[in-house]
Amino acid sequence: MFKSKIIVVKIGGSTLGQHDTTIEDLVTLQQKRVPVVVVHGGGNAVTDWLTRLNIPTRFVQGLRVTDSDTLRVVTAVLAGLINKELVSEIGKRGGKAVGISGVDGLVVTGKNKNRELGLTAEELTCNPRLLRVLLNNGYMPVIASICLNEELTGREEINLLNVNGDTIAAQIAASLKASKLIFLTDVPGIYDNSKQVISRIDTGTARTMIESGTAAGGMIAKLEASLIASQKVALTRIIDGRVDHALLDEIEGKGKGTTIVN
Ligand SMILES: Nc1ncnc2c1ncn2[C@@H]1O[C@H](COP(=O)(O)OP(=O)(O)OP(=O)(O)O)[C@@H](O)[C@H]1O
Ligand SMILES: [Mg+2]
Repeated sequence: MFKSKIIVVKIGGSTLGQHDTTIEDLVTLQQKRVPVVVVHGGGNAVTDWLTRLNIPTRFVQGLRVTDSDTLRVVTAVLAGLINKELVSEIGKRGGKAVGISGVDGLVVTGKNKNRELGLTAEELTCNPRLLRVLLNNGYMPVIASICLNEELTGREEINLLNVNGDTIAAQIAASLKASKLIFLTDVPGIYDNSKQVISRIDTGTARTMIESGTAAGGMIAKLEASLIASQKVALTRIIDGRVDHALLDEIEGKGKGTTIVN
C-alpha cells in the first residue's frame, strides 16, 4: 500500500555540494512514483553564518548549544537559504517539491528538556497530516529541522526550537510508518573500533556503540534516531551521500553502508 512505501531521506549538511547527485536521484524517485520525504540539516552552513555574524558556537555530544541569537540564524539559514536552495534545485530538474520546516502545518512540536543545550528540542511530537496532503498530491516535502516550542513559558523571545536533523527525520519516519529511513552522510557507514564499516547491527548493538563511545559526535544522534524510528520503521540505513547516485543505488537494493534493524 501507498502508506508503507514512504521513504524518509535525511540529507546531511556535509554531503550537499556542487557535484552532489542526490537532487537528481530525488527527482528520479519522484518520477518513479516513490513517495519521498526529505529532511535536511545544514550544520556547516549554519556554523559558517554564525562565524560571519560573530556569534560563538558550541556542541555538546554532537548537538548544537542554541541561544536565541543562534536560533534566529539557524532558522534563517536552514528554513530559508538551505531549504529554498534544495527546493529550487529539485524544481530546476523537473521535480515537484514543497519546502517547509517542522513548524509549518505544526508537523513537529518539541519540548526543551535539556537546558544545557539551550533552545533545542529533545522530545518531539509529530503530526504528519500536512506531509500526507503533499505526498497524495504528488509533492515531495522538504523539511528543515526546526520545530515549534510546545512550552510557551514567556521566557523565550522566540517560539521555535532547534532540532537535530537526524532526530526529526526519525520522528517523522515513525509517524508516517515509513518503510525505510535513510541517512545520507559523509562516511561510508558506521565504523567499528578498527574503522571497518559494519554492514548490519540491531538496536541493542546500536545502544552499546553509543555507551562504549565507538559511536561519537554526529553518529550518536543517528544511532539514537534509529532507536526512535525502530518502533515503527522496519529499516534504518546509514549510507555515504558523497558517492554518486548513492540514493538511487540504495532504492535499487545496490546500496552499501550500515543497516540497523530491530
Ligand atoms: N563509529 C562511527 N562511525 C562513523 N562515523 C562516526 C562514528 N563516530 C563518529 N562519527 C562521526 O559522525 C559523522 C557524521 O555525523 P555528522 O553529524 O557530522 O554528519 P551529518 O549528520 O551527515 O550532517 P549534518 O549534521 O550537517 O546534518 C562522521 O563524519 C564521523 O566523523
Ligand atoms: Mg549530524
